[in-house]
Amino acid sequence: MNAAATDLAQPITSFVRRSPRMTAAQRRWLDLDGPRYLLGLERSGHAAAIPPQPPLDLRRVFGRGGDLIVEIGCGHGEALAAAAVGHPDVNYIGFEVFEAGLAAAVGALAAVESDNVRLVAGDGVEGLRHLLGPSSCAEIWVFFPDPWPKARHRKRRLVSPAFARLAASRLRVGGRLRLATDWPDYALAMAAVLDADPAYIRRPGGRGERPVTKYEARGLAQGNIVCELVYERLPPAAGPKAAAPANPASPAEPVRAPIPPPSKAAARRSAESIAGLAVSGQLEGRRSPDSSEQRQGEPR
Ligand SMILES: C[S@@+](CC[C@H](N)C(=O)[O-])C[C@H]1O[C@@H](n2cnc3c(N)ncnc32)[C@H](O)[C@@H]1O
Repeated sequence: MNAAATDLAQPITSFVRRSPRMTAAQRRWLDLDGPRYLLGLERSGHAAAIPPQPPLDLRRVFGRGGDLIVEIGCGHGEALAAAAVGHPDVNYIGFEVFEAGLAAAVGALAAVESDNVRLVAGDGVEGLRHLLGPSSCAEIWVFFPDPWPKARHRKRRLVSPAFARLAASRLRVGGRLRLATDWPDYALAMAAVLDADPAYIRRPGGRGERPVTKYEARGLAQGNIVCELVYERLPPAAGPKAAAPANPASPAEPVRAPIPPPSKAAARRSAESIAGLAVSGQLEGRRSPDSSEQRQGEPR
């Protein structure tokens, strides 16, 4: 294996495995509509593992061609369901490791009678690596990845240099990586990672058509601000990033601030310093780190 391939194989574990707690309704959605939306895969290892296997034949999966948009950590499937209705010509794949979230996503897709979305019960990182070929994605979405606010858990954060490289390898040139978070220090860390990666250029962009999910709504109600980041995949020969056109909406410096501790004052300072990112919500009255921790890993 060459160095680049080794790099793309670097493990990234952004979740902890838990036994599922499903409601009766979620169980029903899975039983009734699961077969329509959930992709059957070769499996081995733990329940969320996606072992190496031949990449998906997307024409076979969707019964047609078309752009592919992938969401990692789709939670209850609100963003996928809304996009599927708005863009029936686009194909979507959502990855989710949490079975109860996945069941809710199945319910959301069935409710809008979507036939252009498929779900994968499993790790989206391994899914990108093993199920999707190079340059196969028009967009990759990472909305409200688990914030892992405690310093000792930060290594579990999904958006890392290794993730950035893997996502870049799956995006076609001109494709977009869209991210949102309501943790200012995570937004800064994401921007630092992606600004430093020569495969991307930051583009202006707000939330677009993304609906407010239950998870996001809970944060907004607590006074959180939401940061949106959009990065475009550059052609491999684009040369040094400095030569690429600057982000016209925020000609300011790329964000390279150090990661502050998640105290209230630091969170507010970092929120103010995210001037280059699209933000919504309010800066005052942020939640305490503890209350956010309860939202860890749960779109519920
Ligand atoms: C905080 S929730 C946000 C859900 C949704 N994106 C939203 O905006 O409401 C993060 C979700 O990502 C899922 N997740 C974390 N790491 C993942 C991974 N590597 N692959 C797939 N899902 C993952 C968690 O189980 C959780 O449902």
